[in-house]
Amino acid sequence: MEKLLRNSFMFLSRNKTMTKLAKKYGHKFGASRFVAGETIESAITAIEQLNNNGLDVTLDYLGEFIEDEHEANEVANQAIRAIEAIGRNPVNSQLSLKLTSMGLDISEEVVLCNMRRILSAAENENVFVTIDMEDYSRCEKTLEIFKQLRSEFQNIGTVLQAYLYRTIQDIDELNHYNASLRLVKGAYKESPKVAFPDKKAVDQNFQQIIKMHLLNGNFTAIATHDDAIIDYTKRLIKTHRISNDQFEFQMLYGIRPEKQLELVKEGYRMRVYVPYGTDWYGYFMRRLAERPANVAFVLKGLFRK
Ligand code: FDA
Repeated sequence: MEKLLRNSFMFLSRNKTMTKLAKKYGHKFGASRFVAGETIESAITAIEQLNNNGLDVTLDYLGEFIEDEHEANEVANQAIRAIEAIGRNPVNSQLSLKLTSMGLDISEEVVLCNMRRILSAAENENVFVTIDMEDYSRCEKTLEIFKQLRSEFQNIGTVLQAYLYRTIQDIDELNHYNASLRLVKGAYKESPKVAFPDKKAVDQNFQQIIKMHLLNGNFTAIATHDDAIIDYTKRLIKTHRISNDQFEFQMLYGIRPEKQLELVKEGYRMRVYVPYGTDWYGYFMRRLAERPANVAFVLKGLFRK
């Protein structure tokens, strides 16, 4: 039953008609637990609250799978507005974005042009930018664009997914770029030809890539809600005396907020990924697919007036 729900939500997350309808009819169906509103003002308020509790933030203007150049340029403009708002307000926040929202599926020229505009604006405001990793079909292209931009800018990092077989090699390759990486399990439905189908194997690979990237001396964000991975990382940094400024934990907005505060209390850096914007549908469906138990929250939200 859980697998059926998971597959249904993953299917819905890629449905373009539903994405358009969700955009049109607004921020409903319980998405507000995972999304900090539709405007930059609401996002800044959420960041302030998190910062006041000792939590750092990476802000994400939601958008993905854009196929129209004008729309991609507009999303890039929104990202620049978000950077300017971070610079204007007394908040501590980085920025995260997806290359498909910047024109990855349109052309290399469009995506590079939008990314250079964003990274220059971010440099001016001292804001670090992380390129999220999307589905496998975009992985190679995303890493090529990352490497190109990394040779031009300091304030850029990206994400690798523990469920992909190729990730071990990517860790080695990106070591040549001293890449600042967020490591995650992986959120898309992938074929067993490219990704470990077994959860245990994903967890083992996750531990291995965390160890490799940290011991290579690179900055590592361990992005997970999984206690076993968090405890593994704590033991690893203790054994190898890795300093607190070489790593941080990251979690998603609205997921395990009490654990986020607990890690801050223990002295770790904890960054919360805060999505906002009208294009919340695909993101929201992936969160439901990860943990069908979250549907209960959504149903409660639906019936609460
Ligand atoms: P998993 O989902 O296996 O959960 C492990 C355990 O955590 C559960 O058994 C439970 O104990 C606990 N848990 C999880 N959710 C909970 C909840 N709601 N309430 C209570 N306990 C809960 N993916 C991607 O493909 N590309 C990307 O760029 C990113 N970016 C990203 C940024 C950040 C900051 C995070 C945290 C995650 C991502 N992801 C991502 C998503 C990632 O790939 C993955 O899908 C989710 O983080 C879920 O995997 P976990 O590691 O949390 O473990």
